[in-house]
Amino acid sequence: MKVLLKNAYAVDPQVELNSQYDILIEDGIIKRVEKQISEKVDEMIDLKGCVIVPAFADVHVHLREPGREDEETIATGINAAMAGGFTALCCMPNTEPAIDCAEVVTFIKDRSANSLVDVFPIGAVTKRREGKELALLGEMAEAGVVGFSDDGNAISNSQLVRYAFEYSSMFDLPIIEHCEDPSLTVNGVMNESINSTILGLPPHPSLAEVLIALRDVAILKYCGGKLHLAHISAKETVEVLRNAKKEKLNVTGEVTPHHFSLTDDAVKSYDTNTKVNPPLRTQSDVDALIEGLKDGTIDVISSDHAPHSIEEKEWEFIYAPFGMIGLETSVALTLTKLYHTKILSLEEIIYKMSINPRKIFNLPKATIQPDKTANLTILNLDMEWIVDKFSFKSKSINTPFHGWKLKGKVIGVLNNQKMCLNEQLKIIK
Ligand code: DOR
Repeated sequence: MKVLLKNAYAVDPQVELNSQYDILIEDGIIKRVEKQISEKVDEMIDLKGCVIVPAFADVHVHLREPGREDEETIATGINAAMAGGFTALCCMPNTEPAIDCAEVVTFIKDRSANSLVDVFPIGAVTKRREGKELALLGEMAEAGVVGFSDDGNAISNSQLVRYAFEYSSMFDLPIIEHCEDPSLTVNGVMNESINSTILGLPPHPSLAEVLIALRDVAILKYCGGKLHLAHISAKETVEVLRNAKKEKLNVTGEVTPHHFSLTDDAVKSYDTNTKVNPPLRTQSDVDALIEGLKDGTIDVISSDHAPHSIEEKEWEFIYAPFGMIGLETSVALTLTKLYHTKILSLEEIIYKMSINPRKIFNLPKATIQPDKTANLTILNLDMEWIVDKFSFKSKSINTPFHGWKLKGKVIGVLNNQKMCLNEQLKIIK
C-alpha cells in the first residue's frame, strides 16, 4: 500500500526539517521526503494548510481497564488518543486490580495489540499500590512496563523510594512520582489559597507537593536512579526540578495543560470537573510553570487523562473524585495557550509532546525521515473549534473545557501502517 501525502508542511527539529514537502509512505514506512514527488500510488492526500510532525505521545493517562470499564476502556482510550493526536500512551497503574504484576501488564498489552496507538503500561511501585511492600518490579519490567509509579498516591515512605530507585536502575526504568505528602492533604479538595478560605473548601497545599519532590530528589542524589516528577503544579516544585537539573541529577518533569490553562479561580464555579489532584493553583504558579516550560526545566506536557463517571462527578465538590479527561483537548490547549501566544515555538512543543516523552520512557521514536516508521501527527494550527464534550471518543465527559473556543486542531495520526483522519481531507486519488 503506497500513500502520498502532498503539500505537507513538515516540521521535525530532530532532522532540521521545516518546510513544505511531499511524503511517500509504503507499507507504513516513509520512503521519500522530497519537494515534489510524482508517483503512482494507492492513495494521494492533499495536506495543504496542514502541518505534519513526529507523532505525539501522552505519558500520563488513566485507561481504567481493568476495573472501571464504565469510565474508559483500553479501546475507547485508544480512540480518544487518535482523535487527540497521540500514537503512544503510558497508562497508570491505579486500575482494579492494580498493574502490579506481569499478568495485568500482559493483559493490557494484549488488549491494545495491533492498534494504531502503542500502549505502554506503567507498573505499580508497591503491591496493590498500598505503599507497604515493593511490587514485582523485575517481572513487570520483563513483561514490558516502561516505568514505575504509585500514581494517585506518592510512594509512601523513604525506604520504599530508595528500594524503588535501586531496583528500577537495574532495568534503567524511571520512577514517576505523584508528589503529595498525604499528611498535609487530609480531606483537601482544592488549592490552599484565599479562594479555599472564601469557598470554605478544605485545602490541599502546594507544600504537600514540594516536600515529596524534595524527598525524592534527596534520595535520588544518595542512591542514583531515574526520577520523573508527574503533573507539577506548584512554583516551588519547578524550582526543585530546576535545582536538581543544575546538579546534573537524572530527573525530568511534566506539566498538564489544565495546570497551565486554569487557576483555582475556576473552582469558584463549584464545577467538580475543576477538582483535580494536584489541584489547580494560582496565577503565580501558572507563571512559574510557563517559565519552566520556556527555560527547559519542564521536559514534557502530558494530559493526566482521568475519566470519571457522570454519577460520581455529580456528587458534591468535597465528595466527587479528583480528575478530568484531557486526551482530546491537550494538543489544542497547548497550541492555544502556548503556541499562539508565542510562549513556545512549534519545535519546542514537538520536543515536549513527542521527542522528550519518547526518550524518557524509551518509546518508539517518531521522526520524518526515509526508512523510518510513518509515526506522524497532522495538525491544522489555525483552525478554530469549540470543545464539545458530547462529541468526544472517550467514554467519559468530565472536562471543564466544554464550550471553550480553541485554536489549533488535530487532523489525524498515522502509525503501525494505519491512518486515522478526524477531518475531511481532499483525497486526490
Ligand atoms: O486528578 C487525578 N486523578 N489525579 C491523580 O493523581 C489520579 C487521577 C485519577 O486516577 O482519577
